[in-house]
Amino acid sequence: MKNIVVLVSGGGTNLQALIDAERRGEIPNGKITCVIASNAEAYALTRAKQNHIQTRVLVRKDYADIAEYSAAMVEALREENADLVIYAGFMTILDEQVTKAFPYQMVNVHPALIPSFCGKGYYGLHVHEEVLKRGVKLTGATVHFVTEVCDGGPIIMQAAVPVLENDTPEVLQRRVMEECEWKLLPKAAALFCDGKITVKDGIVHIDD
Ligand code: GAR
Repeated sequence: MKNIVVLVSGGGTNLQALIDAERRGEIPNGKITCVIASNAEAYALTRAKQNHIQTRVLVRKDYADIAEYSAAMVEALREENADLVIYAGFMTILDEQVTKAFPYQMVNVHPALIPSFCGKGYYGLHVHEEVLKRGVKLTGATVHFVTEVCDGGPIIMQAAVPVLENDTPEVLQRRVMEECEWKLLPKAAALFCDGKITVKDGIVHIDD
């Protein structure tokens, strides 16, 4: 059984999707053992507590710089014996200490079709605002491995939805979450825990 540690910063709907999938038996070889929040007020912490999952809070401003914060994160993840680390709406960019300590063991869900609308500054609702401004007709979500390049790691899964006339950023965000993120993330977690994901020359192969 693989230990899954979920990193969160906000509402935690992706965490909830993971919890629900685990409860339905859809992640048979993984267990969410800890939730780490970058913000003590994150509603995701309440969701974890309601489901009897251990929580920790690591606040960026309690550390001198991103290097110290990243070192503390590596220590916490090691203490938790993390096999898989999931960034589920985690909004702090960690440095290479973390990616080096957990190579191809960390996955992120991004609310767009990478390589569009990604990288530094593209997070949360802002991504959907930019999608609407650009007028693309399809958007979606990407689950990818976390590397030292922000949103640049090997892509594991993607799903797309149409952008509709009269969409607001909030309406579009909800469609991307419901139809893409909440489905892809638990599926990717299950495949990882089943040992079905490999990376060769920067490309993900899934043995499903
Ligand atoms: C999700 O849409 C997630 O893809 C996005 O933030 C939201 C968090 O929602 N993450 C990023 O933008 C990371 N770059 P949640 O807290 O309800 O899961």
